[in-house]
Amino acid sequence: MTGGRYLRLGVNIDHVATIRNARGGAHPDPVRAALAAVKAGADGITAHLREDRRHISDDDIARLSDGLDVPLNLEMAATEEMLAIALRHRPHAACIVPEKRQERTTEGGLEVVRGHNRLVPYVAALKEEGIRVSLFIEPERRAVEGAAKLGAPVVELHAGAYCEAALAGNEGARQRELERLRDCARLAEDLGIECHAGHGLTFDTVGDVAAIPTLVELNIGHFLIGEAIFGGLESAIRRMRALMDKARADARGARSA
Ligand code: PXP
Repeated sequence: MTGGRYLRLGVNIDHVATIRNARGGAHPDPVRAALAAVKAGADGITAHLREDRRHISDDDIARLSDGLDVPLNLEMAATEEMLAIALRHRPHAACIVPEKRQERTTEGGLEVVRGHNRLVPYVAALKEEGIRVSLFIEPERRAVEGAAKLGAPVVELHAGAYCEAALAGNEGARQRELERLRDCARLAEDLGIECHAGHGLTFDTVGDVAAIPTLVELNIGHFLIGEAIFGGLESAIRRMRALMDKARADARGARSA
């Protein structure tokens, strides 16, 4: 066990595009937000090009691919159309997510066990192009094992259930969900898979997740873009970064005490 390496922050800028698209113009520009995020300490930028293009557009992906000097993590459904786009732009990473037209956000993890055969060619094609493949999965052991069978170098654990339990003040469920994240992050490391987490994280919920020593990256979007309304994007990201660093340092101190 590595005992607490640096925890990367990937900032998801989808909802800057949501606000832009509400008026159909060019403002606010998600690429400008991405550059501000990097200035404030983001280690990477995440963007989800949805089949229905409800927020990020094809042009955004093209501009992010050209304009960033930090890794771009393209979230994408396993479809021929998205694969062709990923192969064209060759982002640093591609996170395969499940996608349903009617959902408000990515509601669950990928079905990596039942969907194994369907996912095999997508994982293979992305890997062949040197794109780091990540699979967005529920924090379940069978899903981590399923990702290993698919040869994915990275998994991202869906933190939504943990965040919902925390926000609802349900301490029992919060502890159970946190333990599921911990257990799967440990298992991923044992299987040689880099482990990320994301979805629903806020200033209040990030600490306990950031303290999990086998996590390498958190991807955070909606809350940061919402907070930006009140204090600015850079300030929100700096505070998130500080909370992550403090949680890591405290957990390291507790382990060595
Ligand atoms: N990670 C993945 C795979 C996601 O699909 C999302 C949401 O698009 C996030 C992280 C970020 O979640 P949130 O916007 O709730 O912070």
